[in-house]
Amino acid sequence: MRVLKAPSPPYLSIIPIQSPKTPFHLSLPNPISNLPLIHTKPTKFKLSSTITPSSTISSDPIEGKTEKGSEKFDWYSHWYPVSPVCDLDKRVPHAKRVLGLDVVVWWDRNEGKWQVFDDRCPHRLAPLSEGRIDQKGRLQCVYHGWCFNGSGDCKFIPQAPINGPEVHTFKKACAAIYPSVEQNKIVWFWPSSEPQFKDIAIKETPPYIPELDDPSYTSSMGAREIPYGYEVLTENLMDPAHVPYAHYGIMQMPKDKSR
Ligand code: FES
Repeated sequence: MRVLKAPSPPYLSIIPIQSPKTPFHLSLPNPISNLPLIHTKPTKFKLSSTITPSSTISSDPIEGKTEKGSEKFDWYSHWYPVSPVCDLDKRVPHAKRVLGLDVVVWWDRNEGKWQVFDDRCPHRLAPLSEGRIDQKGRLQCVYHGWCFNGSGDCKFIPQAPINGPEVHTFKKACAAIYPSVEQNKIVWFWPSSEPQFKDIAIKETPPYIPELDDPSYTSSMGAREIPYGYEVLTENLMDPAHVPYAHYGIMQMPKDKSR
C-alpha cells in the first residue's frame, strides 16, 4: 500500500470579526497571527511513490490516496486555498507551493481572473513565476520569452519563424494549468491538470465561509509558511494552554484576576 505524506499548505489565517454595531464580538486570540514570520527554504515534498510533476498527476483511482480503514482520501480531488487576494499583485506572477506542488499564480486580464499554472515552462522548465506579464496580458517566460494565455496555450515564440506553423497547436508547448476560482477573497486551486477536471468549478466549489462576504463583519487574512505538517499545526491549535508561556511577551492575554 502506498503511503501519502502531505505537508500542510501555507497556513491561511482567516479571522472574521463582527463589527461593533452587532451585539456579538469574536475576540479569540489567534496564536498563529503572533508567531514571528518564518522564512525557510521549503523542503522538497515527495510522495512515497514516483510522483508528481503536477501536469502528470495520475487519474488512477488508487494513486495519491491514503487509507483509513476502508475510507480513502484523495488529496488531489479537493480545492485548496493558494493565497488571499490581498497578498497578490496583479502586475507580476507569484510563486506558491501547495501540497508540495510549485505553482505560479498570475492575473489574467484578458479573462479577468487569477490563473494557477504549474510553475514550469514547457520549453526548458524555467520557473514561470520568474517571468512577467507581457503587453498583451500573457504570462511570459523569463528564459526565452515564450508567452502563454490563460488556457496555457503558447501564443508566441519569439524565435519561431513568422510564417511558420501556429505554435499553440503543438500540445507540448502548452503550460499545465490547474482549475482555479476566487471565492471569499481567496484564490483556490484544484491540484490536478488532468482534462477531466477542467470544468470542476461548475460541479464543485470550495468550502464557502459566508461571514467573509458579509459586510457586517470585518476580516483579517494572511498566509505564512510553517516548516511542518498540518498534523502538528492542528495539535498546536487545539492546545491553548501553551499560549501564555510559549508566546510570552508577544501576545496580549486577558489576566485571570482570581490567580
Ligand atoms: S524555458 Fe521558457 S521559454 Fe525557454
